[in-house]
Amino acid sequence: MPAADGKLRLGAFIQGVGHHVAAWASPGVDPGALFDLDHYVRIAQTAERARFDAIFFADNVALLGGTNPLVEKAAPVYHFEPLTLLGALIPATRHVGLLATVSTSYLAPYHTARKFASLDNLSKGRAAWNLVTSGTEFEAHNFGLDNQVGHDERYERAAEYVEVVRKLWDSWEDDAVLLDQAGQRFFDVNKLHPADHKGKFFSVAGPAQWARSVQGHPVLVQAGSSADGQALAAATADVVFTAQQLRSHAVAFAQGVKDQAEANGRRRDDVLVMPGITAYVGRTEAEAREKFEALQSLVDPRAGVGLLSAILGWDLSGVDLDGPFPDAPPTQGWQSRQQLFVDLAREENLSVRELVGRITAARGHWVVIGDPVQVADRMEDWFRAGAADGFNVLPPTFPGGLDDFADLVVPELQRRGLFRTEYEGTTLRENLGLPRPAGRRSAA
Ligand SMILES: Cc1cc2nc3c(=O)[nH]c(=O)nc-3n(C[C@H](O)[C@H](O)[C@H](O)COP(=O)(O)O)c2cc1C
Repeated sequence: MPAADGKLRLGAFIQGVGHHVAAWASPGVDPGALFDLDHYVRIAQTAERARFDAIFFADNVALLGGTNPLVEKAAPVYHFEPLTLLGALIPATRHVGLLATVSTSYLAPYHTARKFASLDNLSKGRAAWNLVTSGTEFEAHNFGLDNQVGHDERYERAAEYVEVVRKLWDSWEDDAVLLDQAGQRFFDVNKLHPADHKGKFFSVAGPAQWARSVQGHPVLVQAGSSADGQALAAATADVVFTAQQLRSHAVAFAQGVKDQAEANGRRRDDVLVMPGITAYVGRTEAEAREKFEALQSLVDPRAGVGLLSAILGWDLSGVDLDGPFPDAPPTQGWQSRQQLFVDLAREENLSVRELVGRITAARGHWVVIGDPVQVADRMEDWFRAGAADGFNVLPPTFPGGLDDFADLVVPELQRRGLFRTEYEGTTLRENLGLPRPAGRRSAA
């Protein structure tokens, strides 16, 4: 069932000069643009012109793969710290939501609460936080740990983390700021509430040093898809990001998260599920295929194995490229992505080389190749089947791949009445159709 207003939501997942693993090496792409603010300004403005709900910058807190020679073949996609980058994009945009990843494993919740409240106020209500727990040893090693914290504990900690952040976001009542010059009261201390949080992982006094932000709570996105990730999303998230390959799995995932949300006393529409889509789109199907093949032809299979190893947390360096995809136990890392690759390899009997070919286009996200009508058909099909409330769009290249989506696919979705032609509101919550969480009120 589509969302209440019958429209789908779109996020633009921005990553360097493209999501395809070889995007940066493509002759049509300027790899140096990755280091240039103007590149991101242009992309953000394209997303806003096309009426996307939000732009999204992911993040890791390590160079994944370290100094393994295979890493040289991949561009350092998370070059800029995303909140700093989004701050620089505020004056270049007016409507589009500003979404960044911060991991609950390596930054204190007070900092995270403050950073997103600041972004929300500076952007007049456009901030969103993509909550991840991180899943690599490389990151743990940058923070004094020999090994990353186990998967279960990371999610347990994340749940408490959200609780603390929300206590801080709610620690000022909406009308606590008085600005009373005659009475000389800047704010009303009676309308401030300490967080008074003492839990298993965190002890935070509060109240915050900032006033309640424009959206009350910046939008919370959750991007883990394991059972723990789904449970956290159903309890806390406004939006869920996920990588899905098959429509039937995507429907089961989306409806399963909504079932759990309902069991938690929430409405099904309170949680918007947005799987990733990488669209190779051309004016004709042949042109779209050409774009896809041109990028695929640049892939060094060993770089693909490096990517696979980095995502899975398995060392596949000695693997036989033409042999079957090996069995390996789940790690403490990205469990749902491991499962997705194993399922894909088993169901389609893929060799390592073939699996690499399938993931280089979008790291396991759904890949659609076609003309604008064909791409819109597939999206509409998933939307109407209940697999998606919208999509997180991962263009293969930047800026060209996003231009193609904005100029070819968005008008087709709009023609079908499936996507907005103007922003509905002024805040990201309003555009997503999500209510502003009520704040605290003192007893009268
Ligand atoms: C669209 C999308 C974006 C993600 N962005 C990040 C990110 O920025 N940083 C990160 O460490 N993990 C990111 N992840 C990975 C998830 O946080 C999670 O670790 C992964 O999906 C495995 O989840 P699981 O361990 O619950 O199975 C992202 C996942 C998806 C689907």
